[in-house]
Amino acid sequence: MTAKRKKLYEGKAKVIFAGTTDDTLIQYFKDDATAYNAQKHAVLHGKGVLNNAISCHIMTLLADAGIKHHLIRQISPREQLIRKCTIIPVEVVVRNIATGSMVARLGGAHIPIKSGTPLKTPMVEYYLKEDALNDPIITEDHIVEFALASREEITFMRLTALAINHFLRNIFHDINITLVDFKLEFGRANHPLPDDPPLILADEISPDNCRLWDKATGDSKDKDRFRQDLGNLVEAYQDIATRLGLTITEKHYD
Ligand code: TMP
Repeated sequence: MTAKRKKLYEGKAKVIFAGTTDDTLIQYFKDDATAYNAQKHAVLHGKGVLNNAISCHIMTLLADAGIKHHLIRQISPREQLIRKCTIIPVEVVVRNIATGSMVARLGGAHIPIKSGTPLKTPMVEYYLKEDALNDPIITEDHIVEFALASREEITFMRLTALAINHFLRNIFHDINITLVDFKLEFGRANHPLPDDPPLILADEISPDNCRLWDKATGDSKDKDRFRQDLGNLVEAYQDIATRLGLTITEKHYD
């Protein structure tokens, strides 16, 4: 099906093809898993199908809650039709529980924080999307000074990210999952609609860019299974899909 499509860009986990009209693109979800800036790589059969389904489901719920995003609709098990955006090269991370790079970066004598410690207030961080620099953490002032986004756009990203966090925490709480942290990307719509906000949510929301812990067992149900060699990543993503009420089975993976 993708053979006829014009490939525009291939990323680590997704491929972007020309869309059906000038203002759309097709986002194709691969089975590739990468970590540590692609130093670690594997192909995990079924991951792309599960991420596409989970992301479409969550994005649809977010739209119902008034969050504008780039997804138009799912068009096949591995593909979604999306609006064309110019992506802001800043990853917006929201954290509810300290773990991952935050603990590695800050944990020490002054901040004796241990992985798994709940934060008093959800926290927003910004990272520069620059593989060659290993996506360094940056501040609002860097973003404005180097014209990646305006002060108003940063405020919009921060408040939207926190609203999404509030909404997603509830969705995951209802399926007995703790939303630990997640990463978002935003873009400027290339063909803005009259009721568009300044930026719209772009990329995906899936276990590839969220940390999801089972409330009962503490097990990771996200890409940490790959990062930390815990195994059974596809089974964990399948579990998230099933708990969200999505009927995907192995026969849908091809
Ligand atoms: P971190 O603890 O490694 O900074 O990750 C925080 C969250 O952001 C975690 O849910 C994974 C997600 N993330 C991505 O989706 N892509 C990335 O490139 C990075 C560094 C993190």
